[in-house]
Amino acid sequence: MSEQTPTPPTVRRVDDRHRYEILVDGARAGLTAYRDRGEQRVFFHTEIDDAYAGRGLARVLVQEALTDVRAAGLRIVPVCPYVAKFLTGHEEFGDLTDRVTPETLQWLDGELGR
Ligand SMILES: CC(C)(COP(=O)(O)OP(=O)(O)OC[C@H]1O[C@@H](n2cnc3c(N)ncnc32)[C@H](O)[C@@H]1OP(=O)(O)O)[C@@H](O)C(=O)NCCC(=O)NCCS
Repeated sequence: MSEQTPTPPTVRRVDDRHRYEILVDGARAGLTAYRDRGEQRVFFHTEIDDAYAGRGLARVLVQEALTDVRAAGLRIVPVCPYVAKFLTGHEEFGDLTDRVTPETLQWLDGELGR
C-alpha cells in the first residue's frame, strides 16, 4: 500500500462574511474574522474547529491572512488574542500593525452590535 501525501490546507478570504477561512481537504476547519475601518483591518476572533485542533492550522490561517492584508495595502489591528500572540513572534508584520485603542474597541462593539 502506498502512503498518501496529505493535501496542504488552503486559505481563502470571504469578503461578504468579513473573514478568512482555512480549508482541509475542501472542508472548512476554522476562520479568522475581521471588520475593516478605513485602511485598518481589525481582527477580533480566530477559531479552529475541535476536530482540527492542535495541528498548527491557526498559525497557517493567520500567516496567510496577514500576508493578504499586506498585499492589499491595509494595516492590522490585533484585537483577537491569538492574532496578537502570533504577531509577537512575527516581527515581519510589525510595520503594518497598529495598536488596539479603547476607541477601536468601542467602534468594534458598534460594528458587531454588542
Ligand atoms: C486558539 C485556537 C484558534 C488555536 O488553534 P490551533 O490551530 O488548534 O492552534 P495550535 O493548537 O496549533 O496552537 C496553539 C497555539 O495557540 C495558542 N492559543 C491557544 N489559545 C489561545 C488564546 N485564547 N489566545 C491566544 N493564543 C492562544 C497557544 O498558546 C499555542 O501557541 P504556540 O503555538 O505559540 O504554542 C483554537 O484553540 C481555538 O479555536 N480556540 C477557541 C477560540 C479562541 O479562544 N480563540 C482565540 C481568541 S479569539
